[in-house]
Amino acid sequence: MKRDAVTITDHRTEQTYEIPLVDGALPAIKLRKIKVADDDFGLMSYDPAYQNTAHCKSRITYIDGAKGILRYRGYPIEELAEESSFVEVSYLLFQGELPSRAELDSWRAEILGHAEVPERFKRLYDGFERDANPMGLLVSALAGLSTCHPDSRNVKAASSRRLQALRILGKMPVISAYAFRHNRGRPLVDADRSLSYAGNFLRMVFSKGEGSYEPHPALERALDTLFLLHADHEQNCSTAAMRNVASSQAGPFTSMAAAAAALWGPLHGGANEAVLRMLEKIGSVSAIPSFIDRVKAGETRLMGFGHRIYKNYDPRAKIIKRLADEVFEAQGKNPLLEIALELEKIALSDEYFVSRKLYPNVDFYSGLIYQSMGFPVEFFPVLFAIGRAPGWLSQWNELMEDDEQKIARPRQIYTGEVLRHYRSRD
Ligand code: CMC
Repeated sequence: MKRDAVTITDHRTEQTYEIPLVDGALPAIKLRKIKVADDDFGLMSYDPAYQNTAHCKSRITYIDGAKGILRYRGYPIEELAEESSFVEVSYLLFQGELPSRAELDSWRAEILGHAEVPERFKRLYDGFERDANPMGLLVSALAGLSTCHPDSRNVKAASSRRLQALRILGKMPVISAYAFRHNRGRPLVDADRSLSYAGNFLRMVFSKGEGSYEPHPALERALDTLFLLHADHEQNCSTAAMRNVASSQAGPFTSMAAAAAALWGPLHGGANEAVLRMLEKIGSVSAIPSFIDRVKAGETRLMGFGHRIYKNYDPRAKIIKRLADEVFEAQGKNPLLEIALELEKIALSDEYFVSRKLYPNVDFYSGLIYQSMGFPVEFFPVLFAIGRAPGWLSQWNELMEDDEQKIARPRQIYTGEVLRHYRSRD
């Protein structure tokens, strides 16, 4: 008879166990009843890098990696990129539904109302070298802000979580822009609340002084769309870090610092930076074949290609490629584009990449746009972090409401010495 269960035979004992599935997945805790003796701990699953382990149930983001589908709360990413805005999407992700006009206006006003940090906090930046990496500054500022908002540790109250989410969404562009300006020795600029989220951020970054600054509409729109495209991506490395740290009931600012730290690596949000450095190093279209040979020999990776989940073209990359044309029209073509296009063409027809289902991901073209906008490569992961903030916060909120969750605490398979007695080695 068909039922939602699997039967496992343990050939160590020849015993058979039926385990009911939960939402189509094997509940790993039930493996513990599979034992060779009464005092046996029970069977564990072994899954380095969580390649086949669902660590939560979530209603936020749906991805079908084989088909190249990405939806936030059921809405296709293509429709949101076309019709919506980053601030509206942050509401959708956090609250679960699209806002009414009035709800959106007040959500936006509340976010912009938090677009500041205490005066004393601004001096934090003075403690860092002028050339301090902006991601290091962002991670430090996020952790540091927890001291300005001790009430944020009240993670149990839904109303407090909403307040913290609004605070963090408001402050992310501010502390990011301050990192940029610190690197250039420029005075910090306060938010202009009459501008859009992306427009205000561009002003806080690029404004030469306190004077007026008009963000280019094409760049403002492109940056908003880039933020929106990065807003959530279910259980990636940084989101898993956010959930892991927050599961101890650490507050959202320190959990966000952990998530941002996880994002920084070149295999994750640091890939956009790595792509640009790679394109610069390749230097010309004629050098591409020898670079591809090195990738195929396992000497290096084609950064911006491949994904744990997508085994098809990343839908975000398709949108970003179109966006690039609009930005290049406003700013002039990025000379590295030619190399990127040729790389993509060769990779998409080469057996090595085709057989491994390696396609361009979100980071392949985003860096070219950021560079054309005037951002330096080391700042690219910061832009990713601003975009990803609503996702981290929504996942945190969902975690806090999930009765099935506990403090995250994986198991290990111990492979070290069983017992040794101390003896000085002198
Ligand atoms: N260039 C060359 N070969 C690759 C690449 C690449 N970019 N990515 C994967 N492969 C090969 C890999 O060598 C392996 O080959 P083999 O089976 O012969 O050993 C096979 O493809 C499977 O790779 P994997 O490393 O087991 O796959 P993974 O799921 O662990 O890694 C990844 C996913 C994104 C870390 C990886 O594809 C990668 O390093 N890509 C480059 C970095 C990058 O662009 N990261 C951004 C990801 S998208 C933004 C985000 O969500 O953070």
